[in-house]
Amino acid sequence: MNNLLSMHQLTDTDIMRLIERALEMKAGNYTPLTEKKYIANLFFEPSTRTKASFEMAERRLGITSIPFDADHSSVTKGESLYDTCRTMEAIGCDALVIRHGITEYYEEMEDLGIPIINGGDGSGSHPTQSLLDLMTIYERFGSFHGLKVVIAGDISHSRVAKSNQQALSKLGAEVRFCAPEAWQDDSMAVPYVDLDDAVEEADVIMLLRVQHERHGDAVDFTKKTYHMKYGMTLARHQRMKENAIIMHPAPVNRDVEIDGRLIEGPRSVIFEQMKNGVFMRMSVLQEIFGSEK
Ligand code: CP
Repeated sequence: MNNLLSMHQLTDTDIMRLIERALEMKAGNYTPLTEKKYIANLFFEPSTRTKASFEMAERRLGITSIPFDADHSSVTKGESLYDTCRTMEAIGCDALVIRHGITEYYEEMEDLGIPIINGGDGSGSHPTQSLLDLMTIYERFGSFHGLKVVIAGDISHSRVAKSNQQALSKLGAEVRFCAPEAWQDDSMAVPYVDLDDAVEEADVIMLLRVQHERHGDAVDFTKKTYHMKYGMTLARHQRMKENAIIMHPAPVNRDVEIDGRLIEGPRSVIFEQMKNGVFMRMSVLQEIFGSEK
């Protein structure tokens, strides 16, 4: 694997190999890379989990992270993303982790001579989030085949929804979406359901963050009305199957996508997703550097 740009590029065999390695690493079975490597984590959109867990993964593998702060970089003087990345390559970085607001920003990076790991591109893809979500589901259920997964919320703006829909469908899960009409995306052949109709059958309910920063004034419901129609309420929680789980990529808008009392409840795997993110990113880094000539 020379880059990780979207889930489209991964076969089901690739995904399972990354998951199995991440689970091994979670069990403590890993050693730092033998060769010295340098990475710059270039985040042009805010991040807590993705950035911090890449940094943790890099440190655990003995990789040196080169600090980069977009707000104090020459990007503020007008330098392009490509020139920023070429600079990082020129000073000796071996790979780049990039989050950027432009969907498919990586299309402009074809001439770059070092691997890119996509940490999220606009409303496009978030492959490492998808991989850590898949790892978390696999850890609970041991298989994807026939699992009923409902992804609820801001589908059209969500790179997490798109990446997970691609991967889960490929792995044999039955994906359904639930979203207000304004946030539906008909480019994906996925049926939309009412959460109240789907809640008793679902094995996984994956809630998405309401992305206020991407909506402008287009939101015409209150937090309360969103919660009652599309959120995980206490009443819906009680109707879930015995072994069903609740996921959310976080950050969470408490009492909007999910009742705050359920975030650390017995069905929630939200903090396990974050924990798994470190091991999945270690697995991806190992794969990227393992496949280098
Ligand atoms: N889930 C996720 O991508 O979180 P951050 O935006 O904090 O990285």
